[in-house]
Amino acid sequence: GHGATKGLAFGPIAPVPAATDAFTVPDGYRWAPVIRWGDPILRHAPAFDRDAQTAEAQAGQFGYNNDYLDIVPMLPTGRDRSRGDKGALLVANHEYTNENLMFPPSTDPAVLAERKRIAMNAHGMSVVELRRSGPGKPWEYLRIGGYNRRITASTPFAVSGPAAGSDLLRTVDDPEGRTVLGTLNNCAGGTTPWGTVLSGEENVNQYFRTRGTSLREQRYGLADKATTRGWEEIEPRFDARNPGYENEPNRFGWIVEVDPHDPESVPVKHTALGRFKHEGANVILAPSGQVVAYMGDDERFDYLYKFVSRDTMRTGSKRADREHNKTLLSAGSLYVARFQGDSPAAEITGTGALPADGEFDGTGEWIPLVVDGVSHVPGFTTEEVLVYTRLAADTVGATKMDRPEDVEPNPHTGRVYVACTNNTDRGKAGKEGATEPNPRVANRDGHVVELTEDGDDPTASTFRWTLLLVCGDPAAGTSTYFAGFPPEQVSPISCPDNLAFDAAGNLWVSTDGQPGTIGYGDALFKVPLEGAERGHVQQFLSVPAGAETCGPVIRDNESMVFVAVQHPGEDGTFDAPQSNFPDYVAPGRRPKRGQALGPRPSVVQVWQG
Ligand code: FEO
Ligand code: CA
Ligand code: CA
Ligand code: CA
Repeated sequence: GHGATKGLAFGPIAPVPAATDAFTVPDGYRWAPVIRWGDPILRHAPAFDRDAQTAEAQAGQFGYNNDYLDIVPMLPTGRDRSRGDKGALLVANHEYTNENLMFPPSTDPAVLAERKRIAMNAHGMSVVELRRSGPGKPWEYLRIGGYNRRITASTPFAVSGPAAGSDLLRTVDDPEGRTVLGTLNNCAGGTTPWGTVLSGEENVNQYFRTRGTSLREQRYGLADKATTRGWEEIEPRFDARNPGYENEPNRFGWIVEVDPHDPESVPVKHTALGRFKHEGANVILAPSGQVVAYMGDDERFDYLYKFVSRDTMRTGSKRADREHNKTLLSAGSLYVARFQGDSPAAEITGTGALPADGEFDGTGEWIPLVVDGVSHVPGFTTEEVLVYTRLAADTVGATKMDRPEDVEPNPHTGRVYVACTNNTDRGKAGKEGATEPNPRVANRDGHVVELTEDGDDPTASTFRWTLLLVCGDPAAGTSTYFAGFPPEQVSPISCPDNLAFDAAGNLWVSTDGQPGTIGYGDALFKVPLEGAERGHVQQFLSVPAGAETCGPVIRDNESMVFVAVQHPGEDGTFDAPQSNFPDYVAPGRRPKRGQALGPRPSVVQVWQG
């Protein structure tokens, strides 16, 4: 019925109060989980039993707290190409675990040790084969699928790029510095033009106890403090004070690459893309044939980066072409962004009020950290730039941003969007105040930067920028900006986190933090970027109490949307759940077999029907 409309057709939903335990979609749409925490995906794995979870079971089941998500088509030359659009691969990250929701209270040391092993196996990533009857129809996951795969905190990764084999990456378990067990705190990500998935290792300091005395540790949030997860109590490498494990934390905080089309492939950690609290990475093909990856370091006052490959992408569909493309992120140049505003500093008042020229905007440059494998930072070797990237960037005048989360180039225009989620410390005593690219002190609601590379060339060394959105709830009197669109006509939005684009070129933004700022549940929004509708933020869905909205995938050509619902019922407990998402049952009804009340992080599909 809505075929003539540009992009997905829907009437925006009203914002949903934060305490509401419901998944809310527009009129005319339905939703269902595709897969939930604990659903078995490997042959040996049992059905989920909330009361009897084991580490062995979890190793073969879908992990916890899904963040990055994509539904990746089968390769045109792969063994399952004949399934066409009736088959696909779901790839999801499992960022971290919420033990208070997963387990009842216990003080039994054996039980607590087993729970740490469960948590390790609930981290990482999943690849899951999907089937459906046709386009626009909901997917089902394959309980036994040839591509199904779990990657956990123990899965071997190969280290690639200039820091592979570095002294800074060697441990007693890996004297070569080339093989790391596991990936941790995988937040957002991106799917490459060659069909692999990139994933960002974000808050990896949470997992390690260190001596904590060096600036190299402190700048990464590492400290001599027992971790909340306590993995250092059962696995010595998580206590970097132990002789031989001093470098173990250096082996996390990377962009990893996983090939979902080859279940036997060894996943890779890419040192050429630097080490920081990687939110994710998104790749675009430059006119030269080189590929460019855009990346954010999600910490208050941290930086925006890009990587430019040395080699060019092959577009053929032979196996050798794909294998070549899987090496593109191993060699190239790493840059950090410096922004320059074009309005007088006195006009950036910190309130969010626009300067006289009517825009937060200006120019910028990409400052080289490493060029074709050679350090450009005085006093830092190449290996030091890549392993201690934050410290290198600190010395070159990079612009301190308000927690850059997803950074994503629009495939239709090449313009790059940066979700700066918030920074409540901006303007505090001893901290940097408002700047034109980060124009609010105590930035509670966040903003979205639109960056245009000079010459529309992703490899350019200079760019122009403008703030597309200065987020908030206009009805609450917050100073907001929606690219000039009337604020009284938009959906309120706060704490932008993940970004996506639909086939019509509209931006989609998911949020993490609205309950604590504007009082509504986290949500997913469409934002047109062109013409009279530019900046018209429209809410599509709302996630249940306690959850953040992650991994949006927009398939407007099929009127379908997918989201990863992370940490539903976050503020509840195992015994007193705040959410029963997604297996809600009507009052007085009993859960069906395989359903267990209490929240389960899940991937949700939304379709017209
Ligand atoms: Fe895991 Fe930056 O959010
Ligand atoms: Ca300006
Ligand atoms: Ca995030
Ligand atoms: Ca988040």
